Amino acid sequence: MKKTIAVLPGDGIGPEVTEQAVQVLKKIAETFDHSFTFKEGLIGAAAIEKTGDPYPTQTHELCVKTDAILFGAIGDPKYDNNPHAKIRPEQGLLKMRKALGLYANVRPIFTFNKLLSSSPLKADIIQGTDFIVIRELIGGIYFGNRGRSKDKTYSFDTNEYSKHEITRVAHYAFSLAQQRDGKVTVVDKANVLETSRLWRETIQNMEKEYPDITVEYMFVDNAAMQIIKKPSQFDVIVTENMFGDILTDEASVITGSLGMLPSASIGEKTAIYEPIHGSFPKAAGKNIANPIGSILSAAMMLDYSFGLKKESDAIFHAVEKVLNQGYGTKDISSDGILGTTELGEKFSEAI
Ligand code: IPM
Ligand code: MN
Repeated sequence: MKKTIAVLPGDGIGPEVTEQAVQVLKKIAETFDHSFTFKEGLIGAAAIEKTGDPYPTQTHELCVKTDAILFGAIGDPKYDNNPHAKIRPEQGLLKMRKALGLYANVRPIFTFNKLLSSSPLKADIIQGTDFIVIRELIGGIYFGNRGRSKDKTYSFDTNEYSKHEITRVAHYAFSLAQQRDGKVTVVDKANVLETSRLWRETIQNMEKEYPDITVEYMFVDNAAMQIIKKPSQFDVIVTENMFGDILTDEASVITGSLGMLPSASIGEKTAIYEPIHGSFPKAAGKNIANPIGSILSAAMMLDYSFGLKKESDAIFHAVEKVLNQGYGTKDISSDGILGTTELGEKFSEAI
């Protein structure tokens, strides 16, 4: 199979972890006789520095032309500490998601046996956790109207959702649940928010189209508690943009490290594959960042965008094997600590 992949390393540890994912993809191509071509593009603070735009037109053109996008991370403390900055790196990621119409962000939450003790949660609580959060990605408070009063002492952000936006992401969640355990949990705050009441009403009306799916509705505050109290109760969670952002950082604790988790953003145009962690500026350039989130994102790409399930599984198994040997970056290992590059090489060897 011949595919072209856009590689957008971005900021902080983004370039380091992405490099390891690219190496693993090259190893897959070699082992399974595929041909992957990689084309690099600018995004985030790195793009602002060179072009003044966090998502330059050239990057967008590259993205629409390629078969899949491997994205690293975005964000720079220079902008975080300056609330007055007009252009921010994060706008690049949001613009890209919106421009590509990627409404469904797929974030799987699972455990590796070897890492059960790395989690601050008790092993018997997290063992067997296997659920997927579908986070709506291009609507809600992230994209609603926002502003400040003239005297700057009043501010607002608006949470907006249309029935159309809810329906398409809910369909995605329902079809995913059909391939899994057949359960969808809709997370909202319908006891307070009008947007949540539209979510609930819309999805309730869709239930009859999916008689094989059990649908459950849960308030987000309760869901935040249930995710760490009894994570095995979930199969597919579907929720709005902001709730999904927050709940998936929380859920990452189950896996032992935020550095472990991959994601896919799916919709109208080219899909993006990215670890759910951020740019972790303090670790940048030190060869200590965990590359597994990025490598497993590459595995998701093979499965979701290219239909290469066997190749995708080969990456998951390689990761599991190397973890079982006790190796890891310092966030997940104590006596087999390796650098980002060295750990990446272990995975390629295992493949
Ligand atoms: C994520 C990140 C982004 C988000 C930021 C960097 C804009 O936290 O992908 O979860 O909030 O969507
Ligand atoms: Mn986030």
